[in-house]
Amino acid sequence: MINIALSGGNTPSLLFDIWVHRYEHEIDWERLCIFWVDERCVPPSDRESNYRMTVLHLLSKLPFKEKNIHRIHGEMPPQGEALRYSELVKMLLPAENGWPVFDVILLGAGSDGHTASIFPDAEGRFDASLWLGSDKKPDYSDQLYVPTVNPYNHQNRISMSLALINHAQHVFFLITGSDKRPVVHDLIYKTKVSLNYPAAYVCPASGKKELYLDNEAIFDICKCD
Ligand code: 6PG
Repeated sequence: MINIALSGGNTPSLLFDIWVHRYEHEIDWERLCIFWVDERCVPPSDRESNYRMTVLHLLSKLPFKEKNIHRIHGEMPPQGEALRYSELVKMLLPAENGWPVFDVILLGAGSDGHTASIFPDAEGRFDASLWLGSDKKPDYSDQLYVPTVNPYNHQNRISMSLALINHAQHVFFLITGSDKRPVVHDLIYKTKVSLNYPAAYVCPASGKKELYLDNEAIFDICKCD
């Protein structure tokens, strides 16, 4: 089996459509166990639901086994659901050094540098130590999934932690659109600005992190002084 965690938002649907139209017969879909990186705290039928988007573009189109689909229950109270999903992942995934290991994690990034549902605060600041180890509280460095809040619309979310992301075998960023060009530039050049980008702290111990960009999101290197 291959344990893969998918992100939400708009970009993944582009990839899912390609999988459906070009790789339907190339991949043994029954071998994939589907998890989510994050979910909005809404019912699965809600237009905001990452699960709903994945069903529309992927799960309803290819022969996945129902028992291999592990939805985050966005309709449940966030704290309890984060705990439940953490226990589920711990139970179902192989572990290394006490951490569940995903084979593949698909991430996006926002123009504010967020990834998963880990955001800078409303002032654009991000304290990575809360996620990667500190003596401050709350400290999420030993958590698998945690409740978070989108600071722009105050939407409750449940998100995979940076620590769990960084224990994955392979992490793929899929970033599209010209609005993401500055964040892509800052991530690649590790600029000072990127210190406030949660996406900048995705550094899997396996070392296998790849960025996939469309022509809009990639910056023209010769223009970068
Ligand atoms: C979510 C995603 C989020 C997404 C970025 C990029 O639930 O919204 O997990 O982290 O990857 O916001 O979103 P787009 O792909 O829509 O630009």
